[in-house]
Amino acid sequence: FTIHTQTVSESCPSNIALIKYWGKYDNQIPANPSVSYTLNHCKTNTSMEFLANEPFSVQTFLAGNEEVKFAEKIEKYFRNIEPYLPWILKGKYIIRTENTFPHSSGIASSASGFGAIAKCLMALDEEFSGKTSEEESLKKASFLARLGSGSACRSLYNGLIVWGETEEVEGSSDLFAVQYPDAEIHEIFKNFNDWVLLIHEGQKSVSSTVGHGLMNTNPYAERRFQEARENFVPMKEILKKGDMESFIKLVEHEALTLHAMMMMSDPAFILMKTGTLEVINKIWDFRRETGLPLFFTLDAGANVHLLFPSNGSEEKIKTFIERELLQHTQKNGVVKDVMRF
Ligand code: PMV
Repeated sequence: FTIHTQTVSESCPSNIALIKYWGKYDNQIPANPSVSYTLNHCKTNTSMEFLANEPFSVQTFLAGNEEVKFAEKIEKYFRNIEPYLPWILKGKYIIRTENTFPHSSGIASSASGFGAIAKCLMALDEEFSGKTSEEESLKKASFLARLGSGSACRSLYNGLIVWGETEEVEGSSDLFAVQYPDAEIHEIFKNFNDWVLLIHEGQKSVSSTVGHGLMNTNPYAERRFQEARENFVPMKEILKKGDMESFIKLVEHEALTLHAMMMMSDPAFILMKTGTLEVINKIWDFRRETGLPLFFTLDAGANVHLLFPSNGSEEKIKTFIERELLQHTQKNGVVKDVMRF
């Protein structure tokens, strides 16, 4: 390979898991498989300036402001992935990054952030080592993104994405993410809304790194990992048949289980807020009264992802959200996304 000074720019979306990844082994190997929807509109745009033959260092800017802590994290990450990109420590980096969604909104900016960085690195690699196929390049970007933040590996592709080996999905791997086979997905699941209610915009009290770590001593962890693996069996049937009722039940159960694991950790922690619980109860009341398919999932935070298909009942659901749920958000914040594939 021949390195030279070069600037590349890439964009990567975030994602929201339906079957959750929570708990991992060494080298970012997930304790169980997970499946997510890629959020089309919540993106990180990153430009990476590589100054060849300068001493290795990393400088990062988030929305124009220098971020020293983030730079330290990226420096460590680059040292870690040197075995896979031999040129990586042979220059200086200036990385400028911007999110299209509110900062610290709880939307996984580490997923889109590491996804975008991995894509930039692959773009540089192509400059220095020659072109590889689009497929190989994405696969390696997913592999590299995983080493930055586990869930980031699922952000490289659009649609329904699986990370972690499961017999239910051919070609699935612990090392990188793969697309869920399109032919096995009912149309109803290919056009979905995800509205994120911003319940709490502050810093999370426990980071996901610490949260994953607490699964090592959680007495319920093994049972949980087993359950997540098992959940791929009904999920496969649900996705194929378009069984909305079972989908809702499974997705909400996964979200609540994630938070139950946090409560059963030692020390215990709770990332939901009062508003989170109020919104969940209102969603359940609404479903009981109308039978309409509005449901939720949660990330490792207080904000609620409202999920509903794009079909006949969409307008009624949107009206309900605007009239009844927005009052629970900070500054009436809601990030609207439509996932189409
Ligand atoms: O990728 P991490 O280490 O930030 O972990 C994120 C885990 C969850 O978002 C809570 C679940 C998931 O599968 O994305």
